[in-house]
Amino acid sequence: MTEATYKNILVDQDGAIGIVTLNRPKVLNALSHELMDELVAALEIFDRDDKIRVIILTGSERAFAAGADIGEMSDETTISIMQKDRFATWAKVAKIKKPIIAAVSGYALGGGCELMMSCDIIIASESAQIGQPEINIGVIPGAGGTQRLTRVVGKHKAMEMILTGRPMNAQEAFHYGLVVKVVPVELYLDEAKSLAREIAKKSPVALKMAKEAVLKTFDTSISEGLEFERKNFYMLFSSEDQKEGMKAFLEKRQPTFSGR
Ligand code: CAA
Repeated sequence: MTEATYKNILVDQDGAIGIVTLNRPKVLNALSHELMDELVAALEIFDRDDKIRVIILTGSERAFAAGADIGEMSDETTISIMQKDRFATWAKVAKIKKPIIAAVSGYALGGGCELMMSCDIIIASESAQIGQPEINIGVIPGAGGTQRLTRVVGKHKAMEMILTGRPMNAQEAFHYGLVVKVVPVELYLDEAKSLAREIAKKSPVALKMAKEAVLKTFDTSISEGLEFERKNFYMLFSSEDQKEGMKAFLEKRQPTFSGR
């Protein structure tokens, strides 16, 4: 799959920032199989590209994504949906090693909320509506919602959201630590870019190790996590970026990180 063949996403580059925009406006960016295949392909290309240091994932002002494509799913049976195992593709988003910032406006519902939570930092516009409404269509979140949402907002808020299907607004999402900043609609992408530019100046090797260590927290004990972090810390001492970063500090100048 190449950029020229994408039908459901737009791909752009702004310096060291790779930007993927979900683009199925007629169905509020419903996450079809084809869209998810394209998204994963684009993210993996950015992940391999040395010129890209941070990725932004965004949608439109009206919708980040209103969920998995219900039209595609409605006639599935247990066997057919298991055989296709489409959520195995979704899981690849969480395997991307570079930082991904989600710039979210409008609806981030169901799979849209789950996709957003697979990213590393979330910036929201004031219009964001974030939730897991699957209960309203007779199912439950299937791409991480029961696990990732609960770990961020806690058991009781996650239960309320998942059992009622009611979304939270941007301020509530900020209050619960799901999004790091809420800005007026016209600014959410600029805000994400400015954050991405700040992060892009850091050592790519250290960014990768830092992301890996933070994510480790979700599937290990504190003692194993601390050991993992320490090993990553020690490992960075064989990078040129560690030498450059510390030398620059001592020489009272800005570092230039090469990613080696
Ligand atoms: N799948 C397919 N099509 C969708 C969609 C989805 N998830 N969400 C919206 N659309 C389509 C609508 O069918 C509609 O298409 P038509 O114009 O052809 O009728 C178009 O997008 C615009 O939607 P609405 O007319 O409904 O717009 P609205 O402003 O009145 O309502 C909304 C917006 C509240 C988001 C509403 O569209 C909605 O409730 N969407 C479904 C949300 C949902 O249930 N998401 C979870 C999906 S299941 C899932 O994601 C499983 C998982 O864990 C991965």
